[in-house]
Amino acid sequence: MIDSSKVDLIACGEALVELRSLPSESVHLVYLDPPFFSQKSHGLTSRTTGQSYSFDDKFDSLEDYLALLVPVLREVRRVLVEDGTVFLHCDRYASHHLRVEMDKIFGVENFRSEIIWTYRRWSNSKKGLLNSHQNIYFYSKSDAFKFNQVFTDYSPSTNIDQILQERARNALGRCAYKRNESGEVVLAKEKKGVPLSDVWSIPYLNPKARERCGYPTQKPVAFLQRIIELVTDKGDIVVDPFCGSGTTCVAAKSLSRHFYGIDKSADAVQLARKRLDEMVISESQVLSSGIESFSEKDEFQSSVLASLDAIPVQRNKGIDGFIRKDGHLIPVKIQKESETIDDAIALIGHASRGKSFAAKIVIQTNFRHSLFGAGEFLGDTDVKVIPYLGLQIEDALNSVKRPRMAK
Ligand SMILES: C[S@@+](CC[C@H](N)C(=O)[O-])C[C@H]1O[C@@H](n2cnc3c(N)ncnc32)[C@H](O)[C@@H]1O
Repeated sequence: MIDSSKVDLIACGEALVELRSLPSESVHLVYLDPPFFSQKSHGLTSRTTGQSYSFDDKFDSLEDYLALLVPVLREVRRVLVEDGTVFLHCDRYASHHLRVEMDKIFGVENFRSEIIWTYRRWSNSKKGLLNSHQNIYFYSKSDAFKFNQVFTDYSPSTNIDQILQERARNALGRCAYKRNESGEVVLAKEKKGVPLSDVWSIPYLNPKARERCGYPTQKPVAFLQRIIELVTDKGDIVVDPFCGSGTTCVAAKSLSRHFYGIDKSADAVQLARKRLDEMVISESQVLSSGIESFSEKDEFQSSVLASLDAIPVQRNKGIDGFIRKDGHLIPVKIQKESETIDDAIALIGHASRGKSFAAKIVIQTNFRHSLFGAGEFLGDTDVKVIPYLGLQIEDALNSVKRPRMAK
């Protein structure tokens, strides 16, 4: 058992030293987010307080780096309870070396998953593939590890039959819909969804998120909450030996788990303690409602953009997407039901102000208060109005003369 004076607090000190002070088999989960061997110095300034934070991720050699982590990982194994688990966060710089070390310390048979945390990044600065994931190695101390299965929603493309109907192997050993003696398809009992996979799409905190505290490499609380809920219960003890701004401890506290954070930086410890006093956790729409919810385009807008092979733009009143043309981006606006064509033109003009686009396109979807002729350049502006096909057909049908009724 951990002494109650050791829980629900942040210690300032060396990870190895502080871990050594914990009794064996006393901790349910250890999450580690150590330096990644990026050979960089990380620095950031808090937008709210103006305070600067930094930490060094520079080592003389890989051996030096592993000399920091390997003894810490051995201590982690010692402090874990028999059904305890460890999550080691790393990335491409040293993940391959760390996995070998984890296999040695925890045993290949106790490797549970490599979680890929993926997030969106915008950068075109270098040649090669844009790196947009990090790796988290999940090991258990034994076979009898605690695991709370989490189910996620079916993807929108899942066939309704797959959800509703039971499956079984047929005489040929193939997976098929199960049938009763009369040959009727057997409906499944209530299905819970799909077990959570090892690829986690969780957005990095945006620069304006209230949860952002200004600490470099700060992880989202939602990400830690997911780990904590998977492998611990209320009242369990969670330890983070490289806790930085205390994200793991904030997540543990929010879920009624005990925590013990360690960091050698006095600034980080002070910040982590402050975060624990004034807990701020941003709600992630993507996480709570799924990646599809991130798109605010309706079905019609999405289909128009898809037909133009346009890149959708979210949360912008004047631009719905961009078409690529000869290496340039052309903004597109789809006129909304409630907008007149002049509103739509004004909105794309406003959204494009200060940017030099070769052209701007408005897809006209109704005739409300149309001031200009469709399909023409408007005065001296470079906005081109193109009527949506359905509108052209409606227009054509309206102008068709009705056949005279025979007398
Ligand atoms: C990647 S950051 C952790 C960020 C944290 N997960 C968060 O969300 O804010 C790594 C942290 O390890 C700390 N650190 C580096 N070497 C350490 C050591 N030997 N003992 C304890 N802390 C250390 C650094 O001060 C830094 O805060």
